[in-house]
Amino acid sequence: MRALQFTAYGGPEVLTWGDAPEPHAGPGQIRIAVRAASVNPIDWKTLAGAMSGGQPMVGTSYLGYDAAGVVDEVGEGVTGVSVGDDMLGRGQNTQAEYAVLDSWAVKPTSIDWAVAAAAGVAGETSERGLRLLGVKAGDTIFIDGGAGGVGATAVQMAVARGAKVIASSSEANQDYLVELGATPVLYGEGEVARVRAAAGGPVDAVFDVAGKTPVEDLISLAREPAQVLTIANFAAGQAGARVTGGGADSHPNEALAEVAELLAQNKLVIKIQTFPFHRAADAYRISQGGHVRGKLVLVP
Ligand SMILES: NC(=O)c1ccc[n+]([C@@H]2O[C@H](COP(=O)([O-])OP(=O)(O)OC[C@H]3O[C@@H](n4cnc5c(N)ncnc54)[C@H](OP(=O)(O)O)[C@@H]3O)[C@@H](O)[C@H]2O)c1
Repeated sequence: MRALQFTAYGGPEVLTWGDAPEPHAGPGQIRIAVRAASVNPIDWKTLAGAMSGGQPMVGTSYLGYDAAGVVDEVGEGVTGVSVGDDMLGRGQNTQAEYAVLDSWAVKPTSIDWAVAAAAGVAGETSERGLRLLGVKAGDTIFIDGGAGGVGATAVQMAVARGAKVIASSSEANQDYLVELGATPVLYGEGEVARVRAAAGGPVDAVFDVAGKTPVEDLISLAREPAQVLTIANFAAGQAGARVTGGGADSHPNEALAEVAELLAQNKLVIKIQTFPFHRAADAYRISQGGHVRGKLVLVP
């Protein structure tokens, strides 16, 4: 099969789309023939060596954490999945012709493959954030960075729960935030005052999905520091905010089931831009720029 790969840390220019060994579904896993795989910031961070813990690179590495496709292997112990099923989900090395998924949900038939592929990481992360913050109907939540992959999904999932959502973006994405159901505010200087004015009262939860605003500013909006949760500012814990990187606090199968249901009901709409796999470097460059609207998706 072919897969996106690299043999030295670097920028998008070191990526190649070439031959690779086929993965196989282990216990509790499924393998899919990939129809689409999304690009997440962790991909170019991994490519740059930022996730290596300072260790030198050995051999060839592969990329991608979510995808959608057709099941062609079902691992030991997996029930309720058959070869030929259309799935979306999360795994590793998904930017390839075949990928193994660790968590999945049935792809709604009405949803495009590329949209389904975009839902894995963004959907699981959004569900995790809203659950850890206890967001419920009637709450007011501020999502800092509402127009990106995680942000746009989190905004819509919070709206679907009946929350009042205030979200930040650049000028270019203010209308997009309105489309998603949020009250838009500009990020940057004066953001805290704008959020307070938009909330018209206390903010019950702050979900920082960009990691750009000083955590003290975000904490000043909440009733208590622990009601600020970040996925992108790993120093925020020192100020009393909560940080989540997935792992033990992740409920991926429940999250993906919720995401698939919202997609099927059109309560979650993911704006996508697609690129053929051999042009992955272009998608990585755009992602690195930090101003993605919705999601970037690679397709065969
Ligand atoms: N810890 C976890 O479990 C986890 C999971 C997934 C992602 N992440 C991390 O979360 C971050 C976001 O991921 P993503 O996939 O949503 O990225 P993305 O799709 O690239 O989105 C980036 C967004 O950040 C916004 N932004 C840029 N500068 C900002 C600022 N100063 N204030 C507020 N928003 C700003 C941009 O809005 P404009 O275009 O309007 O400027 C853009 O919409 C990345 O660092 C990623 O690695 C962590």
